[in-house]
Amino acid sequence: MGALTGKRIVLGVTGGIAAYKAVEVCRRLVEAGAHVQPVMTDGALEMVGATTFSALASEPVKTSLFDDPETPIPHTRMGQAADLVLVCPATARIISDIRTGRSADLLMSTILATRAPVVVCPAMHTEMWEQPAVQENLDVIERRGVSIVPPERGRLAGGDTGDGRLADPATVVAHVERALTEHDLAGRHVLVTAGGTREPIDPVRVISNKSTGKQGYAVAAEAWARGARVTLVTTVETPEPVGVHRVDVQTAADMQRAVESIDDADIIVMAAAVADFRPADPADHKLKKTDGAAPEIPLEKTHDFLVDLGEKKPDGQVLVGFAAETDDLVGNARAKLERKKLDLIVANDVSQPGVGFGYDTNEVVIIQADGSCEHVPLTDKRDVARRVLDTAANKLG
Ligand code: CTP
Repeated sequence: MGALTGKRIVLGVTGGIAAYKAVEVCRRLVEAGAHVQPVMTDGALEMVGATTFSALASEPVKTSLFDDPETPIPHTRMGQAADLVLVCPATARIISDIRTGRSADLLMSTILATRAPVVVCPAMHTEMWEQPAVQENLDVIERRGVSIVPPERGRLAGGDTGDGRLADPATVVAHVERALTEHDLAGRHVLVTAGGTREPIDPVRVISNKSTGKQGYAVAAEAWARGARVTLVTTVETPEPVGVHRVDVQTAADMQRAVESIDDADIIVMAAAVADFRPADPADHKLKKTDGAAPEIPLEKTHDFLVDLGEKKPDGQVLVGFAAETDDLVGNARAKLERKKLDLIVANDVSQPGVGFGYDTNEVVIIQADGSCEHVPLTDKRDVARRVLDTAANKLG
């Protein structure tokens, strides 16, 4: 069950050119299980048709305080029932009205009538975005607790390019999830590794493994949604989740350096599939088949730096390892947990269908140093991430 399942969201659409993109946001929210009530301003109705939103949302669009004789005070009903109000796109006008509390239309009245979190996605031309008045209004409402989804740089209406373009729909949805999630990791730094390391044979060839980084990425996304500052050390090209600081690495040695350079992590989740062996003497030129017989490639062990992290673990830090196994799942994982002095280990049987490398799903056993075991049946990797971080957050106390 995701953060959006069953949540009532009022989607306020105001009159910016980007209003058409709110259609996609609406679709994604509904797909993720939210109950979406669209509210459009007069300006928004000039940009897109109400029918499109009504067709995709959970309820028909509302546009006025007075258009429904059966619901004489729709703003209080919607405001009180909402788990969240999302304003996407948000014009300079609505941002100003939120600051001053001016109840100019149904959307503003609903925002005033709610105690739920409010998420605002500004979208406007660069000149408007950079106006001190707009920036000051945003500062004030942010300090009051409104979440702002920063606009991006890119193509704007009329062929211009600059800051002020509405954030990508996936980014908007990630911010909504975050606003609906308890921030039990606020003020914490979570360090996550992801992907299989790539150990060079020569300048164009590597030894690697089947890891795609999906489980590590899901842990990073979940940690950010829970309010943490997140660093993701990754070997894969997949764009990082929203809000996450990314460090790119290739080899086990690179990953070790990147991880060891961070000394303030409260939780370390070593989801990466670090190579156990690497070519002992990588060639500095491309090996050519015309060189003769197929080359012998002697291997040497890589350094298991999770062992070092366990040895040097500062007080209060929670260290999480992963174990990809094909037999005696719990026995092998427990032995690794003890040998590497971990607080918990997440064991998956990668010989099972739908489990581990490359899949969007996983089935794991979360084993703690005190011996307790929690089985997480086959589910999506974000769910697994949630359970791993529940356990880790509990250990932080
Ligand atoms: N790990 C590491 N450095 C290595 C190898 C592994 O930090 N050189 C970490 C992985 O990121 C993972 C954990 O150790 O969190 C377990 O990795 P795994 O490959 O399952 O176990 P190994 O210790 O390599 O044991 P084996 O190869 O015998 O299964």
